[in-house]
Amino acid sequence: MARENAALVGRRDFARLLALGGAIPFLTPGAAWPQTRALGPAPARPDERYWQSVREQFVMPPDLAMLNAANLCPSSAPVLEAVYGHTKDMDRDPSFDNRVKLGEGRENTRRILASFLRVAPEEIVITRNTSESNNLVSNGIDLKPGDQVLISSDNHPCNNNAWKQKAKRFGFTVKEIPTPSPHPGAEHYLAAFRNAITPSTKVIGFTHVTSTVGDLFPARELCALARERGILTLVDGAQSFGVIDVDLSDMQPDFYSGSAHKWPCGPKENGVLFINKRSHAKIWATIYSAYPGSVGISATFEGFGQRDEPAMIAFGEALQFQTRIGRPQIEARARELTQALMEGLKKLDGVKIWTSTDPSRTVAVISCQPGSLDARRLQAALYQKDRIGCATRGGQDRPGLRFSPHFYNTHAEIDRTIAAVKKYMAVGV
Ligand SMILES: Cc1ncc(COP(=O)(O)O)c(C=O)c1O
Repeated sequence: MARENAALVGRRDFARLLALGGAIPFLTPGAAWPQTRALGPAPARPDERYWQSVREQFVMPPDLAMLNAANLCPSSAPVLEAVYGHTKDMDRDPSFDNRVKLGEGRENTRRILASFLRVAPEEIVITRNTSESNNLVSNGIDLKPGDQVLISSDNHPCNNNAWKQKAKRFGFTVKEIPTPSPHPGAEHYLAAFRNAITPSTKVIGFTHVTSTVGDLFPARELCALARERGILTLVDGAQSFGVIDVDLSDMQPDFYSGSAHKWPCGPKENGVLFINKRSHAKIWATIYSAYPGSVGISATFEGFGQRDEPAMIAFGEALQFQTRIGRPQIEARARELTQALMEGLKKLDGVKIWTSTDPSRTVAVISCQPGSLDARRLQAALYQKDRIGCATRGGQDRPGLRFSPHFYNTHAEIDRTIAAVKKYMAVGV
């Protein structure tokens, strides 16, 4: 393998890169991942062997069970290859002439994104992440004293803090709809938002799937409720994009945001903002610079200056990777693993699950409190001793651990996680 690597990158470069501690697979895209070309679409009923072959598309070592998709997902080998290959091509010849094709690649990613979300390329802005997308919305809408924005209290800070800060600046008001746990049902949220709407309500901002406890919001119904009253909707899709087979033509939000580096398993610092055609005239761009996109709203809204086009192209590859496997199959797999983990944790004495066990109210995020165990110490022990990655929630508000399995996980990893939590519940950490 070392000889192959050296032949591919040149002996001196290879030695230098090894000295830098570079991962060998990253130096030899393709050569180190022969299996990447072998993966076919998921069969109608994919078995564990099929999912194992999906797992092998990722460069995580086989003993590492990462159940932290809600935070950051690994990129698959084809995505790493795309980042590396296009970056290398650009850096070999950074002329304008050579980079024309990168601009075309960026527009191709826009088309892939549009088809992935079932909308038009003219409605897609490629951003850096969900934080940026949400802020482009709260910055870009004209709001004034007397106007009201309704938000749900489990929204991420890039949604709620942003609205509150801008309320201070522009004089509008913000009202929060509480998000009790476990999820009280779709009807609860429809009624809560309906009752809170006043003639001053101009925007509703909610999260499709919350990052706190994984609650699935009735996005389509909430968007309809707002639309009928002339209210704009911002749906934060950070925890739904790339795991739910999202159809924005059905949901019909005004704005929907997402990050490439979460469930889509794409490159870092890429994101999406969908801006519904009907709302193009209702939002101002925040950044005016060179190199905008080519079509629709991107031509005025996406002039963010020089971009990392190789990463943008790799974003498209990540979406195609999922599409090749099958998006309904990916959603079903993530849900199945989540339910299995939830079932296992439920049986452990003393473990309190904050997430609803009703599959219509959740997708692939579970938060739980492991009795009186210190969550941070437990998370550290799980990682260091058992090679299981998850997140913690500190403070008083639904504290504990957060697990978020995805399609690259296996049932063996779920069983291992349940067994490890059981062990620490018995012996402590
Ligand atoms: C619901 C939600 N919105 C927004 C974000 C911010 O995502 P990013 O850091 O990719 O901008 C997160 C991150 O976890 C999130 O869970």
